[in-house]
Amino acid sequence: MRRLFLRTVVAHRRCVIPIFDPASPQAAAISDLFVVVLVICGVILAIVVGIVGISLVRFRQRTGSEEPPPYFGNRKLEIIWTVGPILIVICLLVLTARGMHQSDPPVNQEPDLIVIAHQWWWEVRYPQTGVVTANEIHITVGRKWLVRLESGDVIHNFWVPQLARKMDVVPGYPNHIWLEASAPGKYAGTCGEYCGVDHSWMRFSVIAESPPELAAWLLDRENPANVPTSDSAQRGLAIFQSMTCINCHSIRDVSVTANAAPDLTHFADRETLGAGVLSNTQANLLLWLKNPQAIKPGCFMPNLKLTDAQAGALVSYLRTLK
Ligand code: CUA
Repeated sequence: MRRLFLRTVVAHRRCVIPIFDPASPQAAAISDLFVVVLVICGVILAIVVGIVGISLVRFRQRTGSEEPPPYFGNRKLEIIWTVGPILIVICLLVLTARGMHQSDPPVNQEPDLIVIAHQWWWEVRYPQTGVVTANEIHITVGRKWLVRLESGDVIHNFWVPQLARKMDVVPGYPNHIWLEASAPGKYAGTCGEYCGVDHSWMRFSVIAESPPELAAWLLDRENPANVPTSDSAQRGLAIFQSMTCINCHSIRDVSVTANAAPDLTHFADRETLGAGVLSNTQANLLLWLKNPQAIKPGCFMPNLKLTDAQAGALVSYLRTLK
């Protein structure tokens, strides 16, 4: 049904609307239900508009015509409009139950992944290994990952349109979700609930890869942070430790545990800065450090009024954190 819809409506081979391009059984069940509802509603709309249109033309008042005779009762029509909707509701019930069965995870099981929403970024924890990262969630392809969703502040909403249903992230009340990708690749996610000024910059990606790739990635992440060797990077480390950076950011074995802002232990491997606001390049990092407020107005990282030399040293240090 979904393929038929895609073939008819979308000209290109690859659909640009993520909900019509599901990449997991859970998202496919939701997409199927949506397409079926859309088609049924379209058919009903066409029938109603058609009948009204025909009636307007065929039964319009003509000069000299009399009042038409009234109709009372029509068993055939009554059967059609009673049985028809019942069949439609049964069909929707079956599809809904299938979608719910596929999407509903157990809530009393240890999660594979803990995602904590913050204003305005995502903390990602792998409880089995202790790995902590931000805004980029790595999972294995073709396997269901049980994710526990927590909030560090206000209500957010975790949404990866191609992979899973939307799920509210509520402070004090963890929610659970299945995260699964049928094909390897990178899937875009976002916050789906208005949560303050930078709600639109609370982007993340889910990277689905093979089990050996994920194992290698996790092993890398378990390593302590690189020790800087160049003069400039060493100065950067000293600045990181002496300024207020350590109050919010953690770098394993370098600063005490703080999680008001993303963990930076392996920061240089991430693709974006500020939860998707910039790509993580040397030039962008410098812009960000010089004035985060100019790039993501309202975010909680203040303008530290770094000198060019300080910002340059911090950039060289942070770029070593692979
Ligand atoms: Cu978090 Cu919107």
